[in-house]
Amino acid sequence: MTRDRSSSPESGLDLHLDWSGRPDSGALAEALRAAIRDGRLAAGSRVPSTRALAHDLGIARGTVTRAYVQLGTEGFLLSRQGAPTTVADRLRSGERPEPAAPRPAPRTPRWDFRPGRPNLSAFPRKDWLAASRRILRTMPADDLDYGDPQGPLALREALTEYLRRARAVHTSPDRLIVCNGYSEALSLISRALHARGVTSVDFEDPSLPHFRTIAEDNGMSVHGVPVDDGGIDVSALRSPAAVVTPAHQFPLGVTMRAQRRTALIRAAKADGRIIVEDDYDGEFRFDRRPVGSLQGMAPDTVIYAGTASKTLAPALRIAWLALPARLVEPVREMKTHGRYGPLFDQLALGELLRSGAYDQHVRRSRAAYRARREQLLEGLDGLRTRHRRYPAGISAGLHLTLRLAPDGPSEQEIMARARSRGVELEALGPWWVRRGEHPPGVVIGYAAPAEHAFRPALEALLDTLDP
Ligand SMILES: Cc1ncc(COP(=O)(O)O)c(C=O)c1O
Repeated sequence: MTRDRSSSPESGLDLHLDWSGRPDSGALAEALRAAIRDGRLAAGSRVPSTRALAHDLGIARGTVTRAYVQLGTEGFLLSRQGAPTTVADRLRSGERPEPAAPRPAPRTPRWDFRPGRPNLSAFPRKDWLAASRRILRTMPADDLDYGDPQGPLALREALTEYLRRARAVHTSPDRLIVCNGYSEALSLISRALHARGVTSVDFEDPSLPHFRTIAEDNGMSVHGVPVDDGGIDVSALRSPAAVVTPAHQFPLGVTMRAQRRTALIRAAKADGRIIVEDDYDGEFRFDRRPVGSLQGMAPDTVIYAGTASKTLAPALRIAWLALPARLVEPVREMKTHGRYGPLFDQLALGELLRSGAYDQHVRRSRAAYRARREQLLEGLDGLRTRHRRYPAGISAGLHLTLRLAPDGPSEQEIMARARSRGVELEALGPWWVRRGEHPPGVVIGYAAPAEHAFRPALEALLDTLDP
């Protein structure tokens, strides 16, 4: 059966008809019936006039008129003198397509302390709009083609400059690949390494299960490596690749010490390992001098991954990889087959970086998050003396981890109290890789509440933690 499209300035409607093309009214009536049954023509909607539809389909007007009369008799169409013909609301529920099973709406927590979320109400809308306007005004039409799988050159150039300046990353536009979030970046890396014979990867223990699953889904077996106060335990590395979060370990918040960095790079070079540096919140450093990237120490050993999910918004789905030269082509190959990112947003980010608006936004956010962190620490201070709980990982990033005293309430008890108060945070328990006993704790992200809601949110949180 030929699929024909009735769409033209004549009918003004873009209507897809499964029509055999036979110019008889029976075949046309059947195609219209099918369109009404499956909802392409909704009850109450206007159908094209007989003249317009005949013109669009290139058939005699009389054929369309006969089909409409037939459908009117059957109760599919409603014709009234002087009014346009419409689709009748004759279908009983039995004839309607089954509605999709309702999905529970995602729950928006009343007081959101989930780690990994920035303050979305602070998204720099004005700057983004201005950047998008400039892009739309000036981009040549050719840029709307499929483009480069590595992402638009203009963004890669702006990122190269920014990453060198802000994160001490040594790279160049040809070594950068723009991805749909770190999640896609990790999947591309896993597939590219797997294609080169790598079948296992080390992850810090604890770490986010979501990312470990991505590696597993792409053929890797995952091995958990303990983390102490100095960062990942280099002597326990086992796999040809390791994923680390040196600036602010996720979730414990430890910053990898200088000696540990050197040891990690030395071991990786000696054994030919690849290190993946997940620099998810490296822009947010509060107490000390910013810690540069690990990649800057060994650009041929470390894959650097950054994301706009914390500095701007997760919904953008924009992240970037700075790759060792030998891995550019293998990862780029995985990016083909139409896996391009949203071009306008990528170009707008490039424009934001170039104009300085990105740096300004990060600086503003850093100051606001630092103020929140002070308030949170002050509140927790009271708890610490009463119940002996210890915040960790507070010098950077948008979350801290609260170690729970072994003789106090358990993770589960705290989580139950949180649920009953509409407070959302995370328990450390599910994030461990290795089985067995682990010190209990909860992870608190303090960036998500909107500015006006932070105080009451904090009170609800402290009440949760203070049985
Ligand atoms: C540890 C860690 N890495 C990276 C990311 C960024 O992931 P994406 O860019 O897919 O939003 C997150 C976001 O929550 C994270 O927690």
